[in-house]
Amino acid sequence: MAITRSRDLPWIGTGWKMTKNRAEASAYANALAAAAPEFVGKVNAFVLPAYPLIESVAATLTPAGIEVGAQNVHWADTGAFTGEVSAPMLAEIGTSLVCIGHAERRAMFGETDETVGARVTGALRSGLTPLICVGESAEDRNAGAEVAFVTRQLETALAGLDADTVATTMVAYEPVWAIGEGSTPATAAQAEAIHAVLRGFLVERYGTSGAAVPLLYGGSVDIESAPALIAEPHIDGLFVGRAAWSARGFVKLAHIVAAG
Ligand code: PGA
Repeated sequence: MAITRSRDLPWIGTGWKMTKNRAEASAYANALAAAAPEFVGKVNAFVLPAYPLIESVAATLTPAGIEVGAQNVHWADTGAFTGEVSAPMLAEIGTSLVCIGHAERRAMFGETDETVGARVTGALRSGLTPLICVGESAEDRNAGAEVAFVTRQLETALAGLDADTVATTMVAYEPVWAIGEGSTPATAAQAEAIHAVLRGFLVERYGTSGAAVPLLYGGSVDIESAPALIAEPHIDGLFVGRAAWSARGFVKLAHIVAAG
C-alpha cells in the first residue's frame, strides 16, 4: 500500500539508528499506529528502522498512514558488495523512503559526497525517495565555512539529476555538532539561516522543482525546541532521533509539527 504524501503538509520523521529489538519495534509500531488518526492528514510522518525490522514495522505502520523507510542503501542494484543492501531489495519489501549520507555514516563509515551522490542515484532508479542529509562540522562552522560546506554537499549529492528528478528528493539539514548525546542543539535562527541558503540554492539551480523539495531539520530536536524550529519559514519538517524513540515522543512531536 502506497502512502500519499502531501506537499502542503509539514514532515515529522525519526531514524531509530541501531536501536530496538523486535519486541520493542513491535510495541512502538502498535502504539504509533493507534495514535496515527490524531496526526495523519495533518503531517507527513515516517519511521526509519534498522533493516531487519523494516518489513514488520511497515506491516503495522503503512496501513496507518505512516511511511516506513531505510537508513541507508547501496548504489548498485545487485552484486558482490558484502554487507550492503540495494534499492531493489528495499523497494521489494515496501520501502519508499531512504536516508542517505547521515552524519554518522559520513563520520564512521567512510561516506563521501560522491558515494552519497551514487546512493541517491541508486535509490531513485528503484523509485525510492532519497532523504539526503547534509551538515557541517563544528570546525567548519567555527571557520565560517558552513554555507559553502553544506551547499557543496547538496550540489554533489544532486549532481547529474534533472530538475524533475530533484523535485522527488528530500533534504535534511543536520549539523554534525547538533546531533546526538552531548551535542549542542542549534538555535532555530541558526537552523533557519542554513535552510534559507539551501532553499536559495535549490531554487536558483532547479527553479520550481527546487522549490518543491522538502527541507527537514535534525539534530537534538525535542519537544522544547520543536515549536520554534517548525515555525521558521524555511523549515518544512523535523527529522528526530532520541526524542522520537518512544512512540509517545513521536506523537507529541507530530502534534507540535501539525500545529506549527
Ligand atoms: P538526535 O539525532 O535527534 O538524537 O540528535 C538526530 C539524527 O541523527 O538524525
